[in-house]
Amino acid sequence: MNHIKNHLLDIDHLSKDFIYDFLTETKKIKYSPETSKNFNHEKNICALFYENSTRTKLSFQKACSNINAVFHNLDIQTSSVNKGETFYNTIKTINSIGMDLIIIRHSASGAPYFLAKNTYSSVINAGDGAHAHPTQTLSDLYTIFEISNKFEDLEVSIIGDILYSRVARSNILGLLKMGSRINILGPRELVPEDMVDLYSTIDKSYKNKISYYEDFEKPILSSDFLIALRIQKERFDKNTDLNFNTYKTKWKIDLDVLRNLKREDVFIMHPGPVNEEVELSHELVHSEKSLISKQVENGVFVRQKIMEKLLNEK
Ligand code: CP
Repeated sequence: MNHIKNHLLDIDHLSKDFIYDFLTETKKIKYSPETSKNFNHEKNICALFYENSTRTKLSFQKACSNINAVFHNLDIQTSSVNKGETFYNTIKTINSIGMDLIIIRHSASGAPYFLAKNTYSSVINAGDGAHAHPTQTLSDLYTIFEISNKFEDLEVSIIGDILYSRVARSNILGLLKMGSRINILGPRELVPEDMVDLYSTIDKSYKNKISYYEDFEKPILSSDFLIALRIQKERFDKNTDLNFNTYKTKWKIDLDVLRNLKREDVFIMHPGPVNEEVELSHELVHSEKSLISKQVENGVFVRQKIMEKLLNEK
């Protein structure tokens, strides 16, 4: 397991082979839970969530119970962070109490790296600013893999707020690494100008595998999966001249859009929470085309497997 080492901070340090093995092992624990029974139990896991969460935090909590680890939630709102305790001193305090693993979510990109440098515990990044959300990406890769059993020859369109989305950054990297083609769709204001060029410089083989589109038609016609992203109004800066009404007029996906393009067979994904009737219609979110509940369900097993790997290594 030396690809994960002691931390999971982003997708970039995981190899394609490692991810394939990881997804196969996750499938085993999902369908044969007894394969996890040999796990060395009674580890202490700390959730350190400086930002709100429902599905990530709760799925880690459920996954902890699946491996008989003890889940300790440090509720930031009622913690000494509210008395002004610094991030560094909070880390030192957790070090003194002693945890095997810390799961962190923070609004500052890079916070999990600072934590990893200053703790004896393993660290999992549960989302940092607009930078990375590796456990969401592994859950999304798992959901795609369970349906397609491959990544090569797949085309995935990622739609919406790319600029402020940590899911977008990790998912693009993960899917390119696995050999899929990526279409980025969305208003210019929400897509970094250098996005496509940037991924080409990470790896030359990505050059012809990622494109930007300013409308739906062509990419949706050829996509196997559509991943819509949440419009993250809380991260918009004052210069971002875009609101929900402007966005949904052009970019909301509903059953009519798919019917008109004769793509009612395409799978719909979204990391959640969804702004219904902005990114996706209510009807589409709750239709049989939607994999959104599957993404959440799979997140439990993916996060369980990540914790097993990190804790076994220690
Ligand atoms: N996708 C995701 O991270 O959801 P939560 O904010 O509810 O954890």
